[in-house]
Amino acid sequence: MAEKQIKRIGVLTSGGDAPGMNAAVRAVVRTAIDSGIECVGILRGWQGLINSDFKLMDSNSVNHILTRGGTILYTARSEEFMTPEGRNRAVSTCKMLGIDAVVAIGGDGTFRGALELSRLGVPVIGIPATIDNDLGCSNYTIGFDSACNTAIDCIDKLRDTMQSHERCSVVEVMGRNAGFLALYVGLAAGATAVLVPERELDFQRDVIERIQKSRLAGNTHFMIVVAEGVGSALEIGRRIKEEVGMDPRVTVLGHIQRGGSPNARDRETATRFGYRAVKALKEGRYNCIVGTKHGDIVEIPIEEALEMKKALQMERYEVLESMGNFKR
Ligand code: F6P
Repeated sequence: MAEKQIKRIGVLTSGGDAPGMNAAVRAVVRTAIDSGIECVGILRGWQGLINSDFKLMDSNSVNHILTRGGTILYTARSEEFMTPEGRNRAVSTCKMLGIDAVVAIGGDGTFRGALELSRLGVPVIGIPATIDNDLGCSNYTIGFDSACNTAIDCIDKLRDTMQSHERCSVVEVMGRNAGFLALYVGLAAGATAVLVPERELDFQRDVIERIQKSRLAGNTHFMIVVAEGVGSALEIGRRIKEEVGMDPRVTVLGHIQRGGSPNARDRETATRFGYRAVKALKEGRYNCIVGTKHGDIVEIPIEEALEMKKALQMERYEVLESMGNFKR
């Protein structure tokens, strides 16, 4: 594609929000302005681009948002953007507002939208942000670490009451179809067992035997972490009651995991992503995703990025099991 001089960019957040999205918006806006590029905030993701829903951004518009959870640009999952008509309307908005390129902050669905828009001639750059950390194109996605910490805070609190009542706790964490959040949280919280969608569930091996081992080692409370992609934690709780004879308490952490102030890792990564996205545009590189690879920021063409897969590190699972083997 011929090099295009970028004078004005649009920035949007789309899909599920993630702590650190605001830090990325701030970095995009500040870097753009510092580079002599104007910046327009598109509200409510791709739907906002269709509806021409925007606000002008200057350096001051992103003051004090580095520490804030959620996204000041709002977010949405747009059905209309999945249609050719919707996307054509989005292109018209870009023309009308004089937007030369779009920086889209979000996950897999956001990047699929970005690819479609790029095919219609609008240069785009994607910034990975999802608490699921399930994007193959980036070792790390904004929001994951903060979400893990939120989940661990909740589980630590649950443990206090579970320990007092000598109960079993079943905690469902988010992650859509992936177990990254559950496994990481389970390891950090010292869970008795972690159930992830990447490993076929064998109830006897993965739940009953884990609880038995723990009980034989003298424990009287148990923590079972279930990734939402495995199925309902309520159902796991029901089976524990039926097959182990304990009366577990089930907690679905839900959207609380997506809230809160981003931690240091998310603020730092988001700031580097935002800076790099605008730098790439300024230097004439676009239609790519910025991601992390072994701590460095890399640029990957969107099409290629969407094909990339990230496998759950099963070695983490082995570590978890080893922690609960309790051999004397
Ligand atoms: O992708 C982020 C995520 O929080 C997933 O973990 C979860 O499955 C989904 O979004 C929930 O989406 P919604 O906010 O639309 O309920």
